[in-house]
Amino acid sequence: MTNNFNALVRERYSCRAYRTDLAPSDESLELILEAARLAPSACNRQPWRFMLIRPYDEKGQAAIRRAYDREWIDSAHTFIIVCGVPAEAWVRPYDNVSHLAIDVAIATEHMCLQATALGLGTCWVCHFDPAKLKAELNFPEGVEPMVILPVGFPANDIIPEKKRRKLDELVIPV
Ligand SMILES: Cc1cc2nc3c(=O)[nH]c(=O)nc-3n(C[C@H](O)[C@H](O)[C@H](O)COP(=O)(O)O)c2cc1C
Repeated sequence: MTNNFNALVRERYSCRAYRTDLAPSDESLELILEAARLAPSACNRQPWRFMLIRPYDEKGQAAIRRAYDREWIDSAHTFIIVCGVPAEAWVRPYDNVSHLAIDVAIATEHMCLQATALGLGTCWVCHFDPAKLKAELNFPEGVEPMVILPVGFPANDIIPEKKRRKLDELVIPV
């Protein structure tokens, strides 16, 4: 039996070089956003919002480049800015831990895997300056940008080898 899901997980990687002559279709972007919409979240609070930046959105393109000053991002032109709404997130009553980041992460990875299934590349980007992004783009009050997700056709078809710890280092014996 082929394990399609495992193959998909192995196929996803952080793509840092995109084709500049091709952009994801509206249908693909809709499927990707739908994968986020269907993600589970603590208490089903769905404390997320998504800002789609298309290649012709000059303000968005400039803001992303200012907030994330890395050369490789120049090849990317379609982005989903994944936002969290802290006030909507479930907070565990025993220790007041907000589950916002967990929920946003699940939605983001759903999008990455859906994009992979469509032959598209993505890369989680969190090492950006949120203040710069917020200063230039119209996030509603209480909506915080948490991840910049470029989405596009990979510039090459080499899937890098996964560097991961071995399973026996990760599974804790009872
Ligand atoms: C929460 C999170 C934040 C990340 N932030 C960045 C980032 O700012 N810039 C970047 O180039 N990669 C970023 N990455 C990608 C990781 O470096 C990458 O997932 C990891 O090295 C494993 O490689 P792989 O995704 O190719 O399997 C981030 C990944 C995660 C999950």
